Amino acid sequence: MTATSGSIRPPRTLDDVKGWFPVLDQVLFDWFLDRQESSGLRGDLLEVGVYMGKSAIFSGRHLREGERYTVCDLFEGDAPDDANRAESVKSYSALTRRVFEENYLAFHDELPRVLHGPSSVVPSEVEPDSCRFVHVDGSHLYEHVEADITAARDALLPGGVVVLDDFRSEHTPGVSIAVWEAVLNRGLRPICLSTQKLYGTWEDPGPVQEELLAMVRARTDCHLSVQEAAGHRIVRLKSNGMKAPSFPPSRHHLAEPEAAPAPAEPRAATPASPVRGRYARRIAKDLLPPVVTRALRNARGTAR
Ligand SMILES: C[S@@+](CC[C@H](N)C(=O)[O-])C[C@H]1O[C@@H](n2cnc3c(N)ncnc32)[C@H](O)[C@@H]1O
Repeated sequence: MTATSGSIRPPRTLDDVKGWFPVLDQVLFDWFLDRQESSGLRGDLLEVGVYMGKSAIFSGRHLREGERYTVCDLFEGDAPDDANRAESVKSYSALTRRVFEENYLAFHDELPRVLHGPSSVVPSEVEPDSCRFVHVDGSHLYEHVEADITAARDALLPGGVVVLDDFRSEHTPGVSIAVWEAVLNRGLRPICLSTQKLYGTWEDPGPVQEELLAMVRARTDCHLSVQEAAGHRIVRLKSNGMKAPSFPPSRHHLAEPEAAPAPAEPRAATPASPVRGRYARRIAKDLLPPVVTRALRNARGTAR
């Protein structure tokens, strides 16, 4: 899979942050986190595998007073084994902790607590029963994902939700095996599946599924299918032209545009209507660097 968006310029919107975080999952993260917040559930947030920060920045907006946000990534550090090292070199070679932190601070005043290293450090760093939301999006190798699922289970509070990324991508069979093994043998209960992620709990998923089904049935932009498998109700969701939830722009969004469009040559044959002229001048004032706007104004003054 190719990471979406990205540039070396500071991000102005979440879309500018390189990464993997589909619109359907943005909608679902908001829905699950809002639901916890409105029901009064308080607890920490945890993300394993942040890359350049796309999903971490998004979830960070849900952090409430007194809650802690912990993220964990290898960044440019040493992977714990050769397979994990090969995976990181192949897919995440441009990643550095500095890029993650700069991206995060473009949208938030404070960084989360950063565990810089393999996710095997999570169990000793994150208190048992402390988290309401855990997003596992790190290594795709079976041994790591199996351990990450155990760490997520231990970290979650009652009412907590785990999200497991890439549970069915073509290139991630290790994740699929670890996830379905946890469902079949280790008490993980699926709440729903998006195209890329499995949302689960170690409690009865019935009540949250009912609320989710009601939300989805009231929308026209989400395909829904419900199936039974091995005693589990599988709620499968797929975007049908969903729009991303609104997300505030970064602190860089008002920065001067880098390359201003060249001013168009005046067209002698069709004089511009006064409204179009005024509108165009306003746009030019907003978009062009001051030096160009001044030059245009002077040129207009000379021509009169
Ligand atoms: C698919 S990317 C994460 C995408 C990110 N959540 C987003 O929103 O774009 C996977 C990340 O997991 C990290 N990673 C890989 N193996 C890891 C491990 N053993 N422990 C911690 N992080 C790991 C990689 O460095 C990479 O940043």
